[in-house]
Amino acid sequence: MGFKVAVVGATGNVGREMLSVLAEREFPADDVIALASSRSIGKRVSFGDDDVLDVQALDSFDFRGIDIVLSSPGAKVSAAFAPRAAKAGAVVIDNTSHWRMDPDVPLVVPEVNPKAIAGFQKRGIIANPNCSTIQMVVALKPLHDLAKLKRVVVATYQSVSGAGREAMDELFRQTRAVYVNDQIKPEHLTKQIAFNVIPHIDVFMEDGSTKEEWKMAVETRKILDPDIAVSATCVRVPVFIGHAEAINCEFARPITVAAARDALRSTRGINVVDHRNDAGYVTPAEAAGEDAVYVSRVRADPTVTNGLAMWVVADNLRKGAALNAVQIAEVLADTYLGGRRGKVEPLRRRAETV
Ligand SMILES: NC(=O)c1ccc[n+]([C@@H]2O[C@H](COP(=O)([O-])OP(=O)(O)OC[C@H]3O[C@@H](n4cnc5c(N)ncnc54)[C@H](OP(=O)(O)O)[C@@H]3O)[C@@H](O)[C@H]2O)c1
Repeated sequence: MGFKVAVVGATGNVGREMLSVLAEREFPADDVIALASSRSIGKRVSFGDDDVLDVQALDSFDFRGIDIVLSSPGAKVSAAFAPRAAKAGAVVIDNTSHWRMDPDVPLVVPEVNPKAIAGFQKRGIIANPNCSTIQMVVALKPLHDLAKLKRVVVATYQSVSGAGREAMDELFRQTRAVYVNDQIKPEHLTKQIAFNVIPHIDVFMEDGSTKEEWKMAVETRKILDPDIAVSATCVRVPVFIGHAEAINCEFARPITVAAARDALRSTRGINVVDHRNDAGYVTPAEAAGEDAVYVSRVRADPTVTNGLAMWVVADNLRKGAALNAVQIAEVLADTYLGGRRGKVEPLRRRAETV
């Protein structure tokens, strides 16, 4: 018998990607259930190349018998349903911001702190970090092990898919509006995004930073080391998929560019592309659809003692969300839920071939 998996938010950007990643990686599920709001009853979503799943309503769904829930329905919805699913016996791997800083909920990036997964037993919930945090801590971890990070200054260039389907549609509509000279009306994002950049993601905090910037700091400390200082500026850019980050690090000990590159190269999940020519670095458009965290432009930062600068790019819907969640599910299934439960036939039952 394989695992029973429910995907909550299955009609959204992240949920759809979760279904793709589960199928691609042949997660040992013998039942996959797609859940969304009651607005989506009657809709169907793809699972792998050949299958479709009927979407069911989260509100009335009974989680008894479900082993693992992959969740991305937004923070408020997750706050309400995750304890109900956990109480019914499922382990919820949640992509929203709601549970991340709960001391009884582990916040996990499998390349960085896989052992923290054991903490799921407290509440039956594991949190997936923010997309910008995930790709940053994957790149920082080998460098921290090498020379101990003291401070990180990061500027992000975040794609609109990080704000959901509606933000992607908004970029498309506004771009078209610019070309046909139509009026531009920001609806989902705060200002015009087509041919523009917006230094405002999530709400403003009392100190003038945004919640997205705060999340990058507190989540990095929870995952990697509570002593690391992080200063972030988070910016939405007119890119559909793929987040980029310009990161400056200050270390306690000396670190050479060569040693940093070697450490990055030998880390699972990282692909170093770093040559000083036109093809020698990776951009978001090239990282879309890929699993790796790409590191380019590694160089010394001579403005601080033991300083290093780099450019880090990843697909925010994959490593920044769905892939990270499925990787957590794989460790959970293998290590804590009784292993792979033998070889499981690919799912066919609930779906109709299209
Ligand atoms: N996009 C990213 O890069 C990223 C990365 C990490 C984390 N996240 C987080 O993941 C969550 C979803 O992001 P997204 O980009 O996938 O958003 P999205 O494209 O807007 O999708 C939202 C999903 O949530 C469902 N939903 C909304 N209200 C619901 C309700 N009351 N009950 C059940 N389902 C409900 C929607 O279902 P309907 O279609 O029925 O409305 C849809 O499936 C957010 O919390 C986001 O912060 C996103």
